[in-house]
This record gives sequence, C-alpha cells and structure tokens, in this order.
Amino acid sequence: MDLVTTHVCMTRDIGVHGNLFGGVMMSWVDEAAAAHACLVCHTPNMVTVKVNEVIFKKKVRVGFLIKIYAEVVSIGRSSITLGIEARKGSVYSGEEEVVLSTLVTFVRLDEAGDPTPIPSPVLEKYKHLSKYNK
Ligand SMILES: CC(C)(COP(=O)(O)OP(=O)(O)OC[C@H]1O[C@@H](n2cnc3c(N)ncnc32)[C@H](O)[C@@H]1OP(=O)(O)O)[C@@H](O)C(=O)NCCC(=O)NCCS
Repeated sequence: MDLVTTHVCMTRDIGVHGNLFGGVMMSWVDEAAAAHACLVCHTPNMVTVKVNEVIFKKKVRVGFLIKIYAEVVSIGRSSITLGIEARKGSVYSGEEEVVLSTLVTFVRLDEAGDPTPIPSPVLEKYKHLSKYNK
C-alpha cells in the first residue's frame, strides 16, 4: 500500500466521547482515496460512487498520528476501487496499527459529468485487477 496522507488528531477533531469523531476520519479517508484515485488515473475528474462497510476497530485519541494508505484492488472501464487503511503510528517505535479499513470506488467523469473511460495506459497497467475477469 502507498502512504497518501498523515494527520495529527487535534482537539478540534474529538467527539463527545473523547475519541476522534467518525465523520472526521471518514472525511480524511475519502480525501486521501480521491487523491490517490486521481494520481493513479492521471486525471482530476474522479468522484466517489461507493464506500464499503467502514469499521472503526480502535479508538483514536488526541495527539495520535493517523496515516492513510491506499492500493488499487479492482478496475473496470470508468471505475476503480481502492483498498484503504487508516493506521495509528507511534512516533517512538514506528509501529503501526490498523484503526479503520474499507474499500472506496471512484468513477471518472467527462466534462458533462458522465462516466468516461479511464485512460488506456492505466487500464493496461492494472488489467490483472480487472473486475471483468472475476
Ligand atoms: C458516478 C455516477 C456518474 C455513475 O453514474 P451511473 O449512471 O451509475 O453510471 P454507469 O451505470 O454508467 O456506471 C459507471 C461506472 O460506475 C460503476 N458504478 C456505478 N454505481 C456503482 C456502485 N453503486 N458501486 C460500484 N460501482 C458502481 C459501474 O459499475 C461502472 O463502472 P465501469 O465503467 O468500470 O464498469 C453517478 O452515480 C453520480 O454522479 N454519482 C454522484 C457522485 C458524487 O457526487 N460523488 C461525491 C459524493 S458526495
């Protein structure tokens, strides 16, 4: 997986129970996933169409470093699905622990806002992950 973004959990990110608010984490996940989808597909015109089940496995407290990783798991004609992990990292040991994982699917849009094929060199590069082969 590729590291996409790193965040520090700040007091402004905390919900009423003293943990990182889930909506803040989901925003970080969607933004990192979108950035990675755009980089991988060589286009800024990617929109989120689906977020799979999201499980918050571990609590995140103020001061924790949260690193968001992404990898391509599936590709279609106009869509791409990324596996996403959010990990909390220790600045002392470098150890990381997964606190959230999910899959996020993006679709490439044309100027009219309709689905359009992902550039063919990208489809070629990831053809071993084609959803049409499954
Ligand atoms: C993305 C969008 C243009 C797709 O429109 P659509 O009419 O479903 O398009 P199509 O049926 O032609 O499907 C296009 C691709 O999206 C995929 N797709 C559509 N709905 C999907 C879903 N629920 N889950 C996974 N993939 C989906 C299709 O499988 C297809 O992939 P492929 O070309 O790789 O085979 C439309 O749903 C949309 O505009 N959604 C809003 C996006 C948005 O605003 N996101 C930000 C959220 S705040």
